[in-house]
Amino acid sequence: MAVQQIKDRIFSVGSRDWDRRLFDELIPLPDGTSYNSYLIRGSEKTALIDTVDPPKTKELISNLKKLNITKIDYLVSNHAEQDHSGSIPDLLEIYPEARVIANEKCRLFLMDLMEIPETRFQTVSDGDVLSLGDKNLKFIFTPWVHWPETMCTFLPEDKILFSCDFFGSHLATSDLFVRNPAKVIEDAKRYYAEIMMPFRGVVKKNIEKIEALDFEMIAPSHGPVYSDSKIILDAYRNWVSDKVENQVVIAYVSMHGSTEKMMFYLMERIMEKGISVKFFNLIKTDLGQLAMSLVDSATLILGTPTVLTGPHPAAVYAATLVNVLKPKLKFATVVGSYGWGGRTLEMIQNSLSNLKAEFLDPVLIKGYPKAADYGLLDKLVDTIATKHQETI
Ligand code: FEO
Repeated sequence: MAVQQIKDRIFSVGSRDWDRRLFDELIPLPDGTSYNSYLIRGSEKTALIDTVDPPKTKELISNLKKLNITKIDYLVSNHAEQDHSGSIPDLLEIYPEARVIANEKCRLFLMDLMEIPETRFQTVSDGDVLSLGDKNLKFIFTPWVHWPETMCTFLPEDKILFSCDFFGSHLATSDLFVRNPAKVIEDAKRYYAEIMMPFRGVVKKNIEKIEALDFEMIAPSHGPVYSDSKIILDAYRNWVSDKVENQVVIAYVSMHGSTEKMMFYLMERIMEKGISVKFFNLIKTDLGQLAMSLVDSATLILGTPTVLTGPHPAAVYAATLVNVLKPKLKFATVVGSYGWGGRTLEMIQNSLSNLKAEFLDPVLIKGYPKAADYGLLDKLVDTIATKHQETI
C-alpha cells in the first residue's frame, strides 16, 4: 500500500488486504479489509501507532523505508490482537531503540501472544501523555471494544483520535479518507455487528468517554479515516441505543419445504402489516448480513425443521451466533415443522439464553402446514404487530 499523508508529519503506512474473505475463520469480509498503521513524527520523537497482520509486515517495513524512517522511538499498541500487533517483533529488531507503549493488560497479552520481552515495554495508564516534542499522545482506555485491554490514542495538536478496532470498517479501498459515507457506514455496521455488538453497553460508555476529547478526525485501524467523525459517531450512537426498528428478521433452514412454506407465508403477512422484513435462508446467506440485520431489528423468527430429534445444525449455528452477539432484540420465537417429535424448541431456547428478548409462542407443526397451522401463524403475526405497536 502506498504511503499516504494525513496531516503534517502524520502518515498512513499500513496495508490493505484486498482479497481477504474471512476473518478469524468466521467473519465474512466481502470487501476485504485493511490494517492501518500510523506514523507520527514529532519534533523530537517518532511514534508508530499499531502495526499490521503478520503476513503484511514486509509491506509496512517497505513503507517506513519509503519515508526514510531510521529511528522509531515508540511503538504504540492500542490493542494486542495479532492483526495490529503482528509486526511488533520484527520492528523491534529493525528499530532497537523502540519501546512498546501499552497498558498493563496489553503488555501481558503481547508477551503471551507475540513473545515480546518485558524489557521492551513502557506501560501507560489511562490519561497518560507521551511527548514527541511538538506533538503529544494521550492514551484513553476504552476497554472491551472489543478486548479488555483496548485503548485509543489521542493526538490533541492535530485533533485526531486513533481508535484501532473501535469505529473501524472491514473495507479495502484506495481512499485514505471516507469518500463514500454510505458504503463505509455499511461496512462499519457489519464490523460493529460482528465484533462490538456483544459489548453494546460498554461501547456506549466508551463513546461518552471519548466525546469529552476535542477531536475532528477518527483514524481507525481498519478501513478509511473519518475526516468528519460525526458520521461514524452518529451511526454508533444509533446502534448502541435501546431503540429498535419496526423490523422482523426471519432466518430459516428447510429440508423438504414445509418450514420454508411457513417462512414465506410469515414474510408476506408481516409485510402486509407494514413491518419491514429481513429474510435469510441460512444455507445460502452471508452470516455477516444476518448479524447486521440484528443490530436494530425488534424481532427474530428462527425457522427450523426437526432433524435427528433436534433443530437443524444450521439453525443451531445461527442461534449460537445470535446468542454470542447479544443483539437488542425485543422479541424472538421459533417456527418449524417436525415429522414425529423431538426437542427442537427446548434446544433452541437453551441456545438463545443470553437474549433479553420476550419469547413469543412458537409454532411447531407436524408435517406440511395445513389450514389450522396457518391460523397459528396468523396469530403469531398479529401478536408481533401488536407488540411492535406497543414497544416501538
Ligand atoms: Fe482488528 Fe481486534 O483486531
